[in-house]
Amino acid sequence: MLVHTIDEVREKIEEWKKQSLTVGLVPTMGALHDGHLSLIKKSVEKCDKTVVSVFVNPIQFCPGEDLDKYPRTLDADEKLCNDAGADIVFAPSPKEMYGEGHILSNDFLTYVIPPFFYTNKLCGKSRVGHFDGVCTVVNKLFNIVQPDFAFFGEKDRQQLIILKKMVKDLNIPVEIIPCPIVREESGLALSSRNKYLSDDDKIHALALSKILFNIKACYNKGITDVKALTETAYSYLNEHHSLEYLEFRDAQDLEEKKTADDNTIVFIALKIGDVRLIDNIALK
Ligand code: PAF
Repeated sequence: MLVHTIDEVREKIEEWKKQSLTVGLVPTMGALHDGHLSLIKKSVEKCDKTVVSVFVNPIQFCPGEDLDKYPRTLDADEKLCNDAGADIVFAPSPKEMYGEGHILSNDFLTYVIPPFFYTNKLCGKSRVGHFDGVCTVVNKLFNIVQPDFAFFGEKDRQQLIILKKMVKDLNIPVEIIPCPIVREESGLALSSRNKYLSDDDKIHALALSKILFNIKACYNKGITDVKALTETAYSYLNEHHSLEYLEFRDAQDLEEKKTADDNTIVFIALKIGDVRLIDNIALK
């Protein structure tokens, strides 16, 4: 069932809550792929009812980013959600989410601002304000849907860590369920932004997963010095790649690691032409 308004969602949620049914929420920006489907399937398995939100959230895009060209494929998304067993696809307009005129600056909208320590690094360094936009919209979705469980992919691991922190700090009554990265057979992590890649770009994009898999193999052989592990990456990079970061950080609080251990996540972001790709791996 496709709905566009908050009132319609609330009505359904009220009905389900009266019947003591558990509700799962899968927040997405649409352009759904098998990675999203794995979240939806997990929710359908675990919860009585599943809501998938499809909303390209304008306040999490920075100036100059791909808000206008971000793929919008609602018809196909709705079909995929229905086939996967979702009960509601909630696809609000920006006006529905942010009000008349939807004035989106911090001067006119109440924002949820996650801690600077979590946002001043990795993607937050180049995407200033991005996680404020993510936390604000996810908070709104939690208030609208009141889910018992919310499903997020480990592909956006910094986002997942920040949202867990938000839920803990603000005592939001929802359990966040992390879901593993889904990869193509080649190793490439699925992402809606892969749609921007040409066939050649896709080959160059394999550098991300190759670097991460190789670092994990070296760690498994006993190498724990982060400097030595980082150096193993360079042989995979060439003139097609512009490396933004390759960092080793704690899985809970994103503290930098000098020595890798089982609580370490290796994060990578690089650009191929104009397309920015991210990936990560847990060393455990
Ligand atoms: O991961 C995403 O697709 C988005 O950041 C989210 C969580 C749906 C919020 O807009």
